[in-house]
Amino acid sequence: MTQLQNPSPLAVLDQANKSLASHPKGGISAPDQVTVTAVTHWTDKLFSFQTDRPPGFRFQSGEFAMIGLVDDEGKAVTRAYSIASPHWDDHLEFYSIIVPDGPLTSRLRHVQIGDKIVLRPKTTGTLGLARLRDGQRLYLLATGTGFAPFAALIRDPEIYERFEQVILVHGCRTIAELGYSQKIVADSRAHPLIGEMVTRQLHYVPSVTRENFTQTGRITTLLADGKLASSLSLPPLDPAFDRIMICGSIGLNQDIAAQLLEKNFHEGNLSSPGDYVIERAFVGDGI
Ligand code: FAD
Ligand code: A2P
Repeated sequence: MTQLQNPSPLAVLDQANKSLASHPKGGISAPDQVTVTAVTHWTDKLFSFQTDRPPGFRFQSGEFAMIGLVDDEGKAVTRAYSIASPHWDDHLEFYSIIVPDGPLTSRLRHVQIGDKIVLRPKTTGTLGLARLRDGQRLYLLATGTGFAPFAALIRDPEIYERFEQVILVHGCRTIAELGYSQKIVADSRAHPLIGEMVTRQLHYVPSVTRENFTQTGRITTLLADGKLASSLSLPPLDPAFDRIMICGSIGLNQDIAAQLLEKNFHEGNLSSPGDYVIERAFVGDGI
C-alpha cells in the first residue's frame, strides 16, 4: 500500500496519483509483463492475485485491462479483467473465476508468486464516475466476479466525496463465494487512510441465493420488492437522488436495466452523464 506521511487521507492519495500521473497513460514506458506478488484461493472456482505495478500504468478505479499468459508457442492468451485495486495503490489486484476448460483460467489458476503475467497498457470501461450525474446515493450492484470493479471503486475517496451514501450489494450462490468481498470491505473499513470514510458512508449488503444466510435472494428481487432500501432505512429508488452501477451476467444486467427504465432512470455516458451505468462481468452464459 502507498506509504506517505501526510496525515490527510485525500492529500496522501492525491500525491500518490500525481506521481503516477507523470507517466503517460498507456505510454510505451509501460512494460507488457508484471510479476505476481500474492495469490489467495477463496473457493475451488475463485481466486485473487496481486502483481507489481509498472510505473507508467495508469487507470481509473472501475476500469478493466487485458491480462493473460504466454502459451507454449509464445503467443499471449489475454482476457478482459477488471482491476480490483484502487487507482492510487502501488500494486495491482485481480479477482478471477476458474473456468475448468477455459483457455486462460485453466492455466491462470495455477499462478504463483514470482510468475509473470501479461498486462496490456490500455485500460477502459463504463463503470466510471464521469458517466453519472451528481446524486445523494450510489448503488453498486454486482454478482459473482462482477464485484471486482467495485473492489476498486469502494476504495476510491472520490465516491465518498460525490455521494453521501454508497450501497454495495454483492449477490452470490453461496456464502463461501462472498469471501473476497467480505475481506475487501473489512480491510477497507480498517484502512488508515480511507477507513473513516468507508465506515461512515459504505453499506455492504452481501446476499446469497442457494444457502441460508443473514440476507438471501437475488438482487433483482431485493430491488423490486423494496426490501433492499427498507432494510437500510432508505427511501425507494428515485432518479432524483439515486445513481447506480451494475456489473454481472448479461441476464442480471438486463433484468436490472428493465427495472430502472420503468422508474425513469437514464443510462449515462461520457457525453451525457446519467443515472446508471452497466458493464458485463463476462461474456457468455456463465459457468
Ligand atoms: P473464456 O473462454 O473466456 O470463457 C468461457 C466461458 O466461461 C464464458 O463463455 C462464460 O460462460 C464463462 N465465464 C467466463 N468468465 C466468467 C466469470 N467471470 N464468471 C462466470 N462465468 C464466466 N473474469 C474474471 O474472472 N474477473 C474479472 O474481473 C473479469 N472482468 C471482466 C471484465 C469485462 C469487461 C469482461 C468482458 C470480462 C471480464 N471477465 C472477468 C471474464 C474474462 O474476460 C474471461 O472470460 C475469464 O477470465 C475466463 O477466461 P477463459 O479464457 O478461461 O474462458
Ligand atoms: P441464482 O442462484 O438464483 O441463479 P452465477 O454464479 O450463476 O453467475 O450467479 C451469481 C448470482 O447471481 C446468483 O446468486 C444468481 O442467483 C444470481 N443471478 C443469476 N442470474 C440472475 C438474474 N438474471 N437476475 C438476478 N440475479 C441473478
